[in-house]
Amino acid sequence: MSLVARPSEYVAAVLRLAIAVTVVAGLTGCRGQTSEDPPLLLERNMYDQERDNPESYSEFFGDHRTMRTPVAGTIARDHYEDDPEVATGLLPDQSGYVMTVPQAVVNHAGGLAKVLARGQERFGIYCTPCHGQTGDGKGMVVCKRDKPTDPCESRGFAPLPSYEDDRLRHMPDGQLFATITHGVRTMPAYGPQIPAGDRWAIVTYVRALQMSQMAANAQPAQSEPKK
Ligand code: HEC
Repeated sequence: MSLVARPSEYVAAVLRLAIAVTVVAGLTGCRGQTSEDPPLLLERNMYDQERDNPESYSEFFGDHRTMRTPVAGTIARDHYEDDPEVATGLLPDQSGYVMTVPQAVVNHAGGLAKVLARGQERFGIYCTPCHGQTGDGKGMVVCKRDKPTDPCESRGFAPLPSYEDDRLRHMPDGQLFATITHGVRTMPAYGPQIPAGDRWAIVTYVRALQMSQMAANAQPAQSEPKK
């Protein structure tokens, strides 16, 4: 066999290759257009598995519920807190609420500045919709208005106290914490959504809000330099 291919053999080889590519592409469905069909998968891996959809009827379990109750005593990892004071806001003998945010919380978060920053962020997410940016109780859930400076047009939501309220300023930190955890009267509970560390961070920020407003209110209007 000669090692040098003659031009006609070379052309024939290229043609054969081109035909082979076209046939393979045609057979595998790669025809240069989009398709609504599910992709061809030689190995289905875990695409199809036996499973139950949430809330669906189960033939397997006696009570026919597919969603099972967690084993008694199960605790979600990010909701686990073994210090009872940090977990509840109550004194060790349960006789009342702790007066201040437990030091362990501040240490764990890496200092007061970090706790405050976190609290401000979480407060913005979870509390401002109802309580407003400043805690005046006039958030967007409560008041219908275009700009924060417009008068509050009630949407019919239960009235909220302002954090400036004397009773709330003198409430122990632990009670604020418990209020977030369990809710109070018409306020829903946020314990299930906000981990304990973040709830304490929010308490710290609420305290900062109250203090900043006391300071603002303590300044008489005439303290502005007269022109
Ligand atoms: C869905 C709206 C809503 C959200 C969100 C909300 N609250 Fe409230 N909150 C209320 C209402 C309504 C009241 C008044 C309850 C009452 O007295 O009936 C209230 C009352 C309070 C009080 C006063 C409790 C008392 O003893 O009078 C505090 C403190 C408070 N909320 C803190 C918070 C904090 C902190 C957050 C964010 C984690 C938050 N709330 C999120 C609706 C809300």
